[in-house]
Amino acid sequence: MLRGTMFVTTVVGVVSVLYAYGYLTPYTRMLMRHVPDNVKSFMERYIDISDHTADVKSTSGRIFTKDELWKYRGEGDSAVYLAVLGQVFDVTKGRKHYGPGGGYEFFSGRDGTRAYVSGDFTEAGLIDDITGLSLTDIRGLDDWIKFYKKDYIYVGKVVGNFYNAEGTATEAYREYEKQLATAEKEKVLTAADYRRFPPCNSESAQGKGRRLWCSNLSGGIQRDWTGLPREYYRPGTTKPRCACVKDVGPPSETPNVPSADHRNVGDLDNPNMKVYPGCEPKSVSCSFNDF
Ligand code: HEM
Repeated sequence: MLRGTMFVTTVVGVVSVLYAYGYLTPYTRMLMRHVPDNVKSFMERYIDISDHTADVKSTSGRIFTKDELWKYRGEGDSAVYLAVLGQVFDVTKGRKHYGPGGGYEFFSGRDGTRAYVSGDFTEAGLIDDITGLSLTDIRGLDDWIKFYKKDYIYVGKVVGNFYNAEGTATEAYREYEKQLATAEKEKVLTAADYRRFPPCNSESAQGKGRRLWCSNLSGGIQRDWTGLPREYYRPGTTKPRCACVKDVGPPSETPNVPSADHRNVGDLDNPNMKVYPGCEPKSVSCSFNDF
């Protein structure tokens, strides 16, 4: 009994000093778990043991519960914090966006990761579940993290889908990292695919129909050839796109084959290319009256 009392007294002494100096670290929080509630309320009479007393520098790497984070919505003089992918940032300097009355106040005090890419800013949308997002969305989240790291101050992690109470990344965060790696690879592959088969220019107007055409800068890909518009079914994708296909010289995959061994039609005979119905096969421009 005496040893128990001595232990609690020592813990209370240590956490009081830590709180007094603003060292609200995960260790302080761990020690607080051993302090009985009645002792906590006694301590509260003398020192402020609520989380918001901690300053940002001393709490770097701090672990927030959802309730703790919710206190930082900029009400009164309070700081404004938000979380993306479980990582908490101090966005107080962006109070005009995130503070009360700001256009993005709904992001404050929580981890609303999904809404950063879904644009669904309702309560149902402001959640940390990212199941089923596309690879583009996953890259979008990474962009937001980069943005907050650059423009604001990282302060710690919030317990939720991405981090547990010890601040360790969860399976969901590991899955996000895997998806991000896949998304980065896909981005490189897509860039290479765009260089080989540059996107067509396109225009459409109600009543006038649609036009697809190639130029030596279409798709933003500068090149010394123009190519012909083809409906391109990239392997592994479900939707075709319009590609400008090289129509002279060797196929781009085997550019060094002697001219005698190829038909001098570039990539036109690539099996993933289809002539648009109603378009002259040798025309650089295709017009459609399909609406
Ligand atoms: C998924 C959709 C969107 C998200 C998640 C989003 C998120 C944000 C966030 C977080 C900020 C504050 C950035 C900062 O800290 O500096 C911001 C600023 C801004 N957003 Fe959006 N936004 C979205 C869509 C849009 C759209 C569609 C528009 C325009 C039609 C828009 C216009 C702006 C403008 C003008 C600012 C800067 C405001 C200023 O500096 O005063 N946003 N956005």
